[in-house]
Amino acid sequence: MEQVSSPVDAVADNQEHDAAGSTALKKVFVKTYGCQMNVYDSERMEDALTQDGYVKTDDINDADLVLLNTCHIREKAAEKVYSAVGRIRKIKEKHAKQGRQVTIGITGCVAQAEGKEIMRRAPAVDLVAGPQTYHDISKMVARAEKGERVISTEFEIEEKFAKLPAPTKKQTIARGLAAFLTVQEGCDKFCTFCVVPYTRGAEVSRSVNQILDEANRLADAGVKEVTLLGQNVNAWHGSLDGQKWNLGELLYRLSDIDGIERLRYTTSHPIDMEQSLIDAHRDLPKLMPYLHLPVQAGSDRILKAMNRHHTKDQYLQIIERVRQARDDMAISGDFIVGFPGETEEDFEETLDVIRQVKYASAFSFKYSPRPGTPGADLDHQVSDEVASERLTRLQALLREQMTEFNQSCVGKEIDLLIEKRGKREGQVLGRSPWLQTVVVSGDASEISKTLRVKVSEAGPASLNAVRI
Ligand code: SAH
Ligand code: SF4
Ligand code: F3S
Repeated sequence: MEQVSSPVDAVADNQEHDAAGSTALKKVFVKTYGCQMNVYDSERMEDALTQDGYVKTDDINDADLVLLNTCHIREKAAEKVYSAVGRIRKIKEKHAKQGRQVTIGITGCVAQAEGKEIMRRAPAVDLVAGPQTYHDISKMVARAEKGERVISTEFEIEEKFAKLPAPTKKQTIARGLAAFLTVQEGCDKFCTFCVVPYTRGAEVSRSVNQILDEANRLADAGVKEVTLLGQNVNAWHGSLDGQKWNLGELLYRLSDIDGIERLRYTTSHPIDMEQSLIDAHRDLPKLMPYLHLPVQAGSDRILKAMNRHHTKDQYLQIIERVRQARDDMAISGDFIVGFPGETEEDFEETLDVIRQVKYASAFSFKYSPRPGTPGADLDHQVSDEVASERLTRLQALLREQMTEFNQSCVGKEIDLLIEKRGKREGQVLGRSPWLQTVVVSGDASEISKTLRVKVSEAGPASLNAVRI
């Protein structure tokens, strides 16, 4: 799940700022952990900092400011932060001996959940900022640089989106043809295993106008594929001209924007799978035939204990309806094994869901008890040994299905949006409608074009295709 933020054209931005007459530019290095919402937030923070005189660097050893945008979802994710801080502290000490100041900031969900503890455990950290405070990132950094230890974990989500600066056209272009657009943040579902409602706060939807403005700006900068983001993206709701909209209506409207060729959205919750969203899959060619719909578990007893608000059959019926709307839908999911009280029979129900749905892709995890969530206090925690054994079986089944899905694509003709050069000379890459990487012969001049290709071969990590 870990993702690293993409490099930005630091040299070009540097010149832009020099021309504006600012003095020596400081360098910021941002490392992003966790979900795509963090990737989006990291980009917005980079936009704010570069507009306030920083340039981006991809070399941590050369940075004046290091931001770790963190994830708290599982124990391992949170522990990574402390080991990363240990490594950066050494860089900070080395630079200090040469009279160069390095400021360390922790942002994201670990900052929100454990801000005070970070400050106590890691004296090298200068700044702790939760996900709803990023509109103030430049000011907070400036205070930290003056020697103050800054901690900010308030919830002011409307402020965040209203005040974060938009990227310049140049910044957007440098990030490539596919962009994320956060439309909804936070969660009111309170699944008993999950920290997100505590780290991201209550569900908040951005306004239709804010979203359309941002989408038009992306299209204007040449972005061709937009992925709408939210912890519960399909819980997004808004209104325009007195009419209530949900995600389906929003997608119809976004589909009218010239230049945007592909739309995606993630992550959805089964109970918010409204009919208009399913209809959008039937009606909108730009909406890619891919649905990430986590189920977590297959047993009704465990689903209830997880507070998921639906049964196994209801989930299967939703998948059925989605496939009726568009028969080439690829389904992906998230699974947790070893939730407290999970028996072998319960686990078999999860395998049964997988067998019935036939997933194209999936993320699967051992249950990790998170401090402060109801799940952590439940009796009958499953032993690590049993959970590991179940995870191995579940992943073997999912791997089989993924291979089968990739094989089933061989012979299909698809539109391929060429996004970048391939690893080998004379190859370019794009993604299929079902999110697989597709390799085809071609050269860099074809980047941003959409080619009609036929899938010729399925490898373990990508598809090969030939032009038609
Ligand atoms: N909002 C999304 C998921 C957010 S977290 C949803 O409702 O589906 C991403 C995934 O991490 C979850 O789908 C779940 O599979 C996993 N996850 C969350 N908390 C976890 C925990 N305590 N232990 C193990 N996996 C967890
Ligand atoms: Fe977490 Fe559940 Fe909310 Fe998803 S819906 S973010 S799993 S509490
Ligand atoms: Fe992790 Fe926070 Fe996303 S806990 S998964 S970074 S919402």
